[in-house]
Amino acid sequence: PAHRPLYGKHVLVTAGPTHEPIDPVRYIANRSSGRQGFAIAAAAAAAGARVTLVSGPVTLETPPGVDRIDVESAQEMAAAVEAALPADCAVMVAAVADWRAKGYEAQKIKKRGSAPPALMLTENPDILAALAASEQRPRLLVGFAAETENLIPNARKKREKKGADWIVANDVSGDTMGGADNQVTLVRESGEETWAPMAKELVAKQLVERIADELA
Ligand code: C5P
Repeated sequence: PAHRPLYGKHVLVTAGPTHEPIDPVRYIANRSSGRQGFAIAAAAAAAGARVTLVSGPVTLETPPGVDRIDVESAQEMAAAVEAALPADCAVMVAAVADWRAKGYEAQKIKKRGSAPPALMLTENPDILAALAASEQRPRLLVGFAAETENLIPNARKKREKKGADWIVANDVSGDTMGGADNQVTLVRESGEETWAPMAKELVAKQLVERIADELA
């Protein structure tokens, strides 16, 4: 029916930050609140989809009708995403840490001597790019691009480089991260569509409408 256009579809959403452990008490994180990803999961469920939401550490309630899997690190998120396949559509909203600490210290690192310890980093797996290259690639793969400059050119490049169908570009130079509103441009092969600034719930609703049209 018209009000449940995603009925029978499986939508996979990642949301939130990741926490990359350094030692038992310390981690690397970012400012993502998970609000935009949770709103997309909620809107997809409201549109009738079966929704799997793989979430990093956030303080948000699980939206009604959504299957939620909690993870901490990028590596855990990658494994949870793979385990959730197949999906008709994946929307990767999570602000995955690009790097993690190289070598986890099993004991708390102590202050000793005069020099602070050096923090060595290593690259995390790119979950979106891996999904695009996977044998189980969802029919519609949507990524996000949070940028503080050169938003559209970077988003276009990201769409091609990562093999996503669509990129939702959002300018995070203001207080978007953690805030209630978002201002996005939908970047597709056919061109760009810039949306007015609006509540993250409305961005989610509009994006889910586009997804339902595409999967119909
Ligand atoms: O490269 P960048 O982090 O800007 O790409 C953002 C997009 O890629 C988002 O959709 C994000 O969820 C996804 N991503 C990912 N795994 C990473 C890094 C980003 O899935 N390691």
